[in-house]
Amino acid sequence: MSPDVAATVVRVELAERAYEIAIGPGVLASCGAALGSAGARRAVIIADAGVLSTHADAVDASLRHAGIETMTIPVQRGEASKSVTEAARLWEALATANVDRATHVVAVGGGVVGDLAGFIAATFARGLPVWQVPTTLVAQVDSAIGGKTGINLHGGKNLVGAFWQPRGVLADTRTLATLPEREYVSGLAEVVKYGMILDAALFERLELRATEILAREPADVEAIVVRSATLKASVVSRDEHERTGLRAILNYGHTFGHAYENAIGYGTLLHGEAVAIGMTDAAELAVRLGRIPAEIARRQNALLTALHLPVRLPSGPRPSPQELVALMARDKKTLHGRLRFILSKQLGEVELVEGIEPSVVLDVLARIP
Ligand SMILES: NC(=O)c1ccc[n+]([C@@H]2O[C@H](COP(=O)([O-])OP(=O)(O)OC[C@H]3O[C@@H](n4cnc5c(N)ncnc54)[C@H](O)[C@@H]3O)[C@@H](O)[C@H]2O)c1
Ligand SMILES: [Zn+2]
Repeated sequence: MSPDVAATVVRVELAERAYEIAIGPGVLASCGAALGSAGARRAVIIADAGVLSTHADAVDASLRHAGIETMTIPVQRGEASKSVTEAARLWEALATANVDRATHVVAVGGGVVGDLAGFIAATFARGLPVWQVPTTLVAQVDSAIGGKTGINLHGGKNLVGAFWQPRGVLADTRTLATLPEREYVSGLAEVVKYGMILDAALFERLELRATEILAREPADVEAIVVRSATLKASVVSRDEHERTGLRAILNYGHTFGHAYENAIGYGTLLHGEAVAIGMTDAAELAVRLGRIPAEIARRQNALLTALHLPVRLPSGPRPSPQELVALMARDKKTLHGRLRFILSKQLGEVELVEGIEPSVVLDVLARIP
């Protein structure tokens, strides 16, 4: 870490795959030092085209300054880049550049580039070391941590992938200053999620500081990124491969959210927006099942609204409740078509609830908001 950079370091405890997440303004400048100390001589930067001349260039400069030879491959912005076609293009580019196992991959961008570059690193030459340099809020609090990598097929999102932990994550909170408002707000949905599932104090901080958080006050942004990353790291370290059920709590709001994304088409709703609506449904479901008092659902609703997140679908043609339930039954997290949801027990605590009657879910989806 360069001495001029004040970073908070969060460790992801995973025995021989343990790594550090450095969070703070300016940590991009530490990329060279980080890769250098890991013995990298050469690096391939896979960068979102939207951050090429800004953040990816800064990463490149830092690596070169540390004496690391670099090559940058831009990736078009947008979910469509998480494709077989794009993966093949990157594999061929690495082959042409004679990349070998001593070359490190550096992903610079949001979750799209992180998932894609991570997958390329996991598969090329049976595995290259990868570093995540997340530049969206979603990526800094969620996708860059935990080693899930992958691409989409026509048949579904993230259907091909691998668990491939990064060597390190450098989350420069200053990069978030250039993020479009809608993308930033969408990332806040995942932060609200962490509060709901694991941390009532985080939830309360969001309630108290909503205005400053929306204004991207640096200290507030850093605080929520550090807390969210810490929570994600602790879940991942206890259930790396989603086997014990613990990691599944990260899907709070997502069963509903994925159904909306599927029904409406990716791109219309941002992921975080779909999750915000999904969390609203999940809270309503928990209230109807008598699991939580209505007050918790009301507070979640108020917080999402204060953060400018949607709590219902935008007007326009909407999928029927029946269509949404059918999509949920096909979700890859569903076992044998039985509906299961992560539902609140209290603020900061959730549990996996199985075998919920479809009729209750249909009622929740059909309610007039
Ligand atoms: N692996 C995981 O655990 C995990 C978790 C959550 C989401 N994801 C995946 O992440 C993806 C979504 O990620 P995302 O929300 O970061 O979207 P994204 O990667 O598409 O980035 C959103 C937009 O922001 C632009 N951008 C990125 N950084 C910027 C910056 N600093 N300034 C200005 N513009 C910037 C990009 O060009 C893009 O247009 C989805 O594919 C999702 O499946 C993965
Ligand atoms: Zn999510």
